[in-house]
Formats: sequence, structure tokens, C-alpha cells
Amino acid sequence: MTERRQSIHGEWSSRLAFILAATGSAVGLGNIWKFPYITGEYGGGAFVLVYLACIAVIGIPIMMAEVMIGRRGRQSPVNTMRTLATEEGHNPLWQYLGWAGVLSGFLILSFYSVVAGWAMAYVPRVASGMFTGTSPEKVASIFGDLIGDPERLLAWHTLFMGLTMIVVSRGVRSGLEQAVRILMPALFLLLVILVGYSLSAADFASGVRFLFAPDFSKLSWEGVLVAMGHAFFTLSLGMGAIMVYGSYLPSHASIAKTTIIIAGADTLVALLAGLAIFPLVFSHGLTPGAGPGLIFQTLPIAFGQMWGGAFFGFLFFILLSFAAWTSAISLIEPIVAWLVENRGLSRIKATVWAGGITWALGLGSLLSLNLWQDFKIIKWGILDFVDKLTTNVMLPLGGLAIAIFAAWIMSRESTEDELAIENPLFYQLWRFFVRYITPVAVVVVFLNAIGVIQVGKG
Ligand code: PHE
Repeated sequence: MTERRQSIHGEWSSRLAFILAATGSAVGLGNIWKFPYITGEYGGGAFVLVYLACIAVIGIPIMMAEVMIGRRGRQSPVNTMRTLATEEGHNPLWQYLGWAGVLSGFLILSFYSVVAGWAMAYVPRVASGMFTGTSPEKVASIFGDLIGDPERLLAWHTLFMGLTMIVVSRGVRSGLEQAVRILMPALFLLLVILVGYSLSAADFASGVRFLFAPDFSKLSWEGVLVAMGHAFFTLSLGMGAIMVYGSYLPSHASIAKTTIIIAGADTLVALLAGLAIFPLVFSHGLTPGAGPGLIFQTLPIAFGQMWGGAFFGFLFFILLSFAAWTSAISLIEPIVAWLVENRGLSRIKATVWAGGITWALGLGSLLSLNLWQDFKIIKWGILDFVDKLTTNVMLPLGGLAIAIFAAWIMSRESTEDELAIENPLFYQLWRFFVRYITPVAVVVVFLNAIGVIQVGKG
């Protein structure tokens, strides 16, 4: 066993703290905003099945790899990759994988913050009873008015980035750990209440059928790519967020077990969100393929009609904002850690730099909803384009490279030592997955989606 490194940024106080923080990173807008709307756009059941398969076959092995690499290197992803590559006798250029992750982090947070702003903007709206007893059309127009107003969006985007920067600047341990401890279970509970509402007051059976009865004729290779991209996005993989959190993980904690808990919790939240939303969609004659506005146009209908809806709605959007917040901080932590390590900046200064850049980038996404509506990249507005580029291309490629790093660059001894899995069979299984299955799966999905090869259906 080699000498263990120490992180200059500190460590989580316990394994539980890591689980909470990583779950906080994983559970976010991806689960509650994105999962339902892409499931709606890509046809339901079959898409969900592919997504679940991607979590199991690609997500969990890569999450283990990221945590393992992070803890082995105990530095920001850029420095960790450089140190480990050199140590294993390979090219230090692997550090550029860390840089690609930093870029993904900036880009993701730039639009993430705008959407988190929508969630925050809904807090006073639902609380004031604006949705009480209103029609689905009115609910849709309230959403339209919000995203059409650049000044309001700017205020919320700025507030969200400010909040994110406050937590990041204080360091991971104080504040954050405490917050997720209470907020995650509360969010979970509220989702269960909403599922209960859908069960009693909406067309639950249609919702369940849409989510779980696979109709493969509705699934295209593009849908498979989106499902795979989303598996990376929702588990915060492929850009170094989980890696940097892993670098603060105490040495004795079991990586395999914690990873399974985190992935399980994340998946459960997404499925609950789907079960809360789709029954409402069907009983109000809305379309499941409504796109990014879906949850902002469906859930308020429920809140407008259910007993205590203004209160539950208020709680829901607060919790959604918190879920987004605990994800956002993990998106800039890799670059903040690097700035502290290599530029000798204080955490506060590093955060101001990273947050400032993200805020400015976010203006593009924000304006693409209103003033720059007609500006398209290929066929998408800036927000959609950046979302698709990061989720469907950058994260899977980052994940692929991470799998290669863990399985082909790092020696068997190092990974075996760091993962410390008691059952040798499980270790073998993990290694087999990251060596062969995961990389091949990612490449096959890519090649099919861009039409280079055609395996099976298209
Ligand atoms: N996992 C987060 C979500 O589902 C988003 C995220 C992606 C966070 C990548 C960190 C890194 O909302």
C-alpha cells in the first residue's frame, strides 16, 4: 500500500457527509426538470429503460472510477490527472482531461443557473396564490411571461450565482453538509406527497404506462444518445465534479457501496418526479413533449387545485432551488480547487473568478429565451445548444476518457488498492466493465447517433 496523500482543502467529516454531498450534486434540475421533459420528448417507457440501463452499465462503474481517481490524487481533477498519469509512467498531458471537465463545468453551470432562476422565480408566484384555480393555459402564460422578460431572469440568475458563490467560497464543509442533511430528505418527502396527489386526483394509470411500458418503435438512436447523456448529467459524471468530491473522501470509506447508494437515490428521485408529473400531463390534456417548460406548466396546475397547494408549491420550488444549489457548487468546485492549488488564490478570490465567468456566460443562455430568440446555432437557441453539447457530447466523451484512464492508464495494483473491494469478484466485474463494456457502449451509441454505423433499429 502506498503512502496516502492528504488534500490541502480538507476532508468530509464522514462517509455519510460524502454521500450527502455527492447526492446533493447528483440530485438537481436534472432529475426534476430535465428527466421528465426529455422522457416526454423521446417517447416514454423505452427511453426510461435505456436510461436505467445506462445508469447501471455506464454510470455506476464510471462513478466508482471518478471517486477512486479523486481520492487517489487528492487534488483538483487537473492536478490529480497529471500526478497520477506521471506516477503510473504515462504522459502528463492527461491533465487536459481535467481541463475539458473545467470547460464543461463552466458551460453547464451557465445555463443551469438560468433554469434554477426559473425555479426560484416560482417560489413567490406559487406562494402568492397566483396559480390557485387557474386554467392550464393561464399557467402556461405565466411561464411564458417569465422567460420572455430578460430583466427578471437576470435578477434571478444573478441571485442564484451569488448564492452558489457564497457556499463555494466558504469551503465544502461548513454550511453545505448541514444543508443537504435536512433538505434532501425534505425534497424526497414532498415528491412523495406530489405522487400521492397524482395518484388520487390525476390519471395515474396513463402516467405509469407512459413511463414504464416500453414502446421501442418510439425510440431512435438519438433518443439512446440522449438517455446516455442524461445518465452522465444526472449522476454529475464526466467533468470532474464527483472526482473532486472524491478527493475529499476519508480513506477508509468504501467506494463501491457509497456509489450504489448515491446512484440509487438519484434514480429514485427522477422516477418519483416522473410519477408526479405525467399523470397530470395526461389528465389535463397537455402534451408530454412540451420541452423545457414542462414542469413549470404542469406541477402548478396541481398546486392550483390541491388542498394547501400554495403552501406545498412554495415548499416544492424552494426545495427544487436548493437541489439546484447543491448541484451548482459541484460544477465550479474543480476549477476553484485548481485556482487555490496552482495560483495560490484564496478560496474567496478563486470563487469570484469562477463564478464571474459563469455568470457572464449565462447571459447568452438567458437572452436566447427572449431578445436573441432568433439567433440559432445549427437549429438551437444558445441555452438548448449548450445543454445538448455538454450533456450529449462533452460529458460522455469525458466519461469515456475517465474510464480509459481508470482501466488502462492506472495500474491494476493502484485501482485495487484504492477501491479496496472485499469481494475479488466484484473488483473483477468493475474492471471488466470500465475496460470493455463502458467504452464500447459509449462509442457504439455515438457512432449510431451520428449515423456512421447502424446497429439494429434506427
Ligand atoms: N447532476 C446534476 C443534476 O442532475 C447536474 C450536474 C451535472 C452537476 C454535472 C454536476 C456536474 O441536476
